[in-house]
Amino acid sequence: MKVKNICCIGAGYVGGPTMSVIAYKCPDIKVNIVDLNAERIAAWNDEDVNNIPVYEPGLSDIVAAARGKNLFFSTDVEKAIEEADMIFISVNTPTKTYGVGKGMAADLKYIELCARQIAAVAKSDKIVVEKSTLPVRTAEAVKNILENTGNGVKFQILSNPEFLAEGTAVDDLLNPDRVLVGGDTTPEGQEAMNALVEVYANWIPKDRILTTNVWSSELSKLTANAFLAQRVSSINAISELCERTGADVNEVARAIGTDSRIGPKFLKASVGFGGSCFQKDILNLVYIARTYGLTEVADYWEQVIIMNDHQKRRFASNIVKTLYNTVSGKKIAFLGWAFKKDTNDTRESAAIYVADDLLNEQAGIAVYDPKVEEEAIYRDMDYLATRGSSVNRKGITVYTDPYEACRDAHAIAILTEWDEFKGYDWQRIYDNMKKPAFVFDGRNILDSDQLQKIGFIVSSIGK
Ligand code: NAD
Ligand code: UGA
Repeated sequence: MKVKNICCIGAGYVGGPTMSVIAYKCPDIKVNIVDLNAERIAAWNDEDVNNIPVYEPGLSDIVAAARGKNLFFSTDVEKAIEEADMIFISVNTPTKTYGVGKGMAADLKYIELCARQIAAVAKSDKIVVEKSTLPVRTAEAVKNILENTGNGVKFQILSNPEFLAEGTAVDDLLNPDRVLVGGDTTPEGQEAMNALVEVYANWIPKDRILTTNVWSSELSKLTANAFLAQRVSSINAISELCERTGADVNEVARAIGTDSRIGPKFLKASVGFGGSCFQKDILNLVYIARTYGLTEVADYWEQVIIMNDHQKRRFASNIVKTLYNTVSGKKIAFLGWAFKKDTNDTRESAAIYVADDLLNEQAGIAVYDPKVEEEAIYRDMDYLATRGSSVNRKGITVYTDPYEACRDAHAIAILTEWDEFKGYDWQRIYDNMKKPAFVFDGRNILDSDQLQKIGFIVSSIGK
């Protein structure tokens, strides 16, 4: 079977870029990306392609090349389902905030809604592809819903988790380390897998397209994120020891990373990992292990989160301690709010939690981020309030000029590793700050010797 028409439900950070790249690389396939969020769809359709809702280097060019030809964004979910022979489910799967598994399990209500809608609308056989990150064995539930509520048509369910990282999504999609496709071992299952493999084979060498059974595929996604996050927590744990002993975490990372068995990637000590997925996926993994009664397995992975929370809190408390044990009424400038560079995404960004701690100490926080919109920062404060924090929007001021954000500040905290921060006129920043002027480099990106020569007191992670 050759795929001719794809529908993707969910036009977010995954659905948007992945499907744009499929459309760009497969001009013979029509790709419809649909979403309930009309505002988001309108932004994807914005005449000025620079206004698409996801900021990713290179993405606007890809969208510009395919949009209106074989790539379409719409809110008409039913029509897109009906037309498609392959449907990707790429909706959000956040941590549950209620009921059984609250704070740990993945909330699958959006997945179930999609399955029910597909079942209700489909009048011909379809391949349904799980693109969202899901707990192992979700395909079973999806299959049940499709088969029991559908119109008698046949469905094949595949798992095709996405491994792109934000900020490098386009490169990751054009040139992935691997693509993973999981499916049933039945002949129909194999045929569906082949159909999806052939879509990717339009630009990805076949030896990088791995096929497995559905459960291995689902579990591999959670496992990959857990391993990546574990490396960050591991180096962050060592960073605290470095600060006590005179070792330098960058030197330690280089020394261990040159061992080819360890490798150099994902060894950057930081204020803590953020993003919508690492924490959510590990909590989910821990929850799954606990439901199977695997206490040691659950405790082992939970430690990755415990370490990360500690690192964020430690960064904030170091600021308070260094500023003579009080930040009340002091202006602290945050350079960066996104959870990493080259994205406008702020979900679970370490900046949010550092801000929470400092606002609770009555600091005034001035934020500058090159890509994050002011309203998104305020929304993050509202989100904290829903999680029981007493902070609100009032303590935060958002600036569009980094030099103004730092003017009269007592301290600067680097929360995101944006390249532009390195090129600033740090002498000018110093001249306009309160003295002594402190820099807390949560990303180890600045040249601390140079800053110290200017007169800053610098505190870097792991040094
Ligand atoms: P997102 O919140 O940016 O996008 C999800 C979209 O789905 C939203 O726009 C929402 O309106 C839409 N949606 C929800 N229910 C819908 C429905 N019934 N019908 C139509 N639209 C609906 O989320 P995301 O970051 O794109 O993540 C999606 C999934 O991919 C998650 O499971 C996530 O774990 C996984 N993932 C994310 C990344 C990443 O870098 N963000 C990477 C790999 C995997
Ligand atoms: C991560 C994975 O890298 C992707 O493979 C996966 O598809 C995705 O999660 C997902 O499932 O959502 P992402 O969260 O977009 O991608 O970005 P990462 O580059 O992994 O960074 C995550 C966090 O870890 C960021 O806050 C980053 O600053 C931090 N980090 C990363 C470090 O602190 N140190 C490092 O060495 C690497």
